Amino acid sequence: MPARIRKAVFPVAGLGTRFLPATKTVPKEMLPIIDRPLIQYAVDEAIEAGCDTLVFVTNRYKHAVADYFDKAYELEQKLERAGKHEQLELVRNVLPKGVRAVFVTQAEALGLGHAVLCAKPVVGNEPFAVILPDDLIWNRHNGSGGDGALKQMADAAEASGASMLAVQDVPREKTGSYGIVAAPDFNGREGRIEAIVEKPKPADAPSTLAVVGRYVLNPRIFELLESTTPGAGGEIQLTDAIAALLKEEAVNAYRFRGTRFDCGTHIGLIEATIRYALDHEKLSNAATTLMQDALREMGVEELE
Ligand code: G1P
Repeated sequence: MPARIRKAVFPVAGLGTRFLPATKTVPKEMLPIIDRPLIQYAVDEAIEAGCDTLVFVTNRYKHAVADYFDKAYELEQKLERAGKHEQLELVRNVLPKGVRAVFVTQAEALGLGHAVLCAKPVVGNEPFAVILPDDLIWNRHNGSGGDGALKQMADAAEASGASMLAVQDVPREKTGSYGIVAAPDFNGREGRIEAIVEKPKPADAPSTLAVVGRYVLNPRIFELLESTTPGAGGEIQLTDAIAALLKEEAVNAYRFRGTRFDCGTHIGLIEATIRYALDHEKLSNAATTLMQDALREMGVEELE
């Protein structure tokens, strides 16, 4: 029986230049959707999938993520004394009991593949997850909550023993923003990957199935990353090591249930905020009314 993943790696060393000037002091992973930073959504998804060890690959300038997951003694004492139990629970549950956070520094920004390799000493010789917190995946349609994307993948990976990459269809003109896979036997949910290429031009893309930021990987990937040379953009690409892995063993594409918001872009962050507000148990009515009012005031006609 293949092992269940227990460890999740969060590459959070990026500069987040798209969100300057905010990201001058606030890492992009700390940008909130309503009242929770993006990293919290990613962490909750990993914990739901069964992970108890969270490995953050950060850079030496970014302390905010470590501070966020650290225990806030003074704040907790103040909330306790003031009898603010609900808020106290929110602060305490940032990292539930039994889950540990480990911080690893990526000394140089050499690419996503290099960031994942930095986690090798903590992950060791077992399958693990990689979550890119920019990709926020929502799986609550019409008020019904389903399993998070990583849990769906971890269940499928546990059953098959194969490495798994989350995929979704993208318009052909967007292939240059993603790793693109060729999976000829894709059955609509899952299929073995025969080839993967990082950010191909639309004309060169083997399909329109794009990798989004969730991976379940067998530890062999670390050895392959050690010998991966810089690829697209001059960076050590995770995609290139996966291309080597799939020549040796099964790597499957997995189309998750849920909607992915690309919170690495302005419009994706806006879209996620709107969706979470409309779905929020306390804010939904007010958010709906104000969106309708705003559209009306700005003269935007309702869609038929
Ligand atoms: C990374 C990966 C790419 C993947 C994407 C998903 O690219 O290199 O293969 O499709 O994440 O978000 P980035 O968006 O970091 O440029």
